Amino acid sequence: MRELGTSVDDGARVEVDGRVVRPAETRTYVVMHKPAGVMTTMRDPEGRRTVSDLVRAAGVTARVVPVGRLDYDTSGVLLLTDDGEAANVLTHPRFGVEKTYRATLRGRLEPTAVEKILRGVRLEEGRAAPALVRVVAVRRDVSLVDITIHEGRNRQVRRMFEVVEHPVIALTRLRFGPISLGELAPGAVRPATPREVAALHRVVSDSREAVAP
Ligand code: URA
Repeated sequence: MRELGTSVDDGARVEVDGRVVRPAETRTYVVMHKPAGVMTTMRDPEGRRTVSDLVRAAGVTARVVPVGRLDYDTSGVLLLTDDGEAANVLTHPRFGVEKTYRATLRGRLEPTAVEKILRGVRLEEGRAAPALVRVVAVRRDVSLVDITIHEGRNRQVRRMFEVVEHPVIALTRLRFGPISLGELAPGAVRPATPREVAALHRVVSDSREAVAP
């Protein structure tokens, strides 16, 4: 079959260039609250707990993989899926999916440090894009801020706050694109809601338009 828009019966096997293509509705999207002290990998040669252990304990049988990565010490919302295209798009810097983190910082955060982060601090490999910062609470020796970035560099949030001399004590991701952590307990896994899946698919279809000739 060669025409665009050809309909197929439910359950039909469709191949493109020899690879089986499944409709998006048969894909699995799960949302996890990754606790600190868990590796964002499917296997750890050193035997540490991984997100795969949590997914399996929750009874998910689909071959899902994490979309992007949270550091071992970082907690928060993590999407896992067996939809390879969605995983690529959602982690590709070009499509700039927004991520919001709540950071507990050492020291009293002054407005000058916030301004530097807002403008974009210089990291080893180049300047980080400007970030959005919302100061939640500032005490004498610790500050709480929400920071939204759309890049995904290695240990980015921790390194950005190191530059302004407020090391991160604890970091939790509150939002990944259209998916929020909400009240999900640490270690818990839930299916993405239909609304979240639809929003993820919109990101993917927008990306197809963005790369179309
Ligand atoms: N930035 C970090 O520093 N760590 C993460 O896990 C995610 C973003």
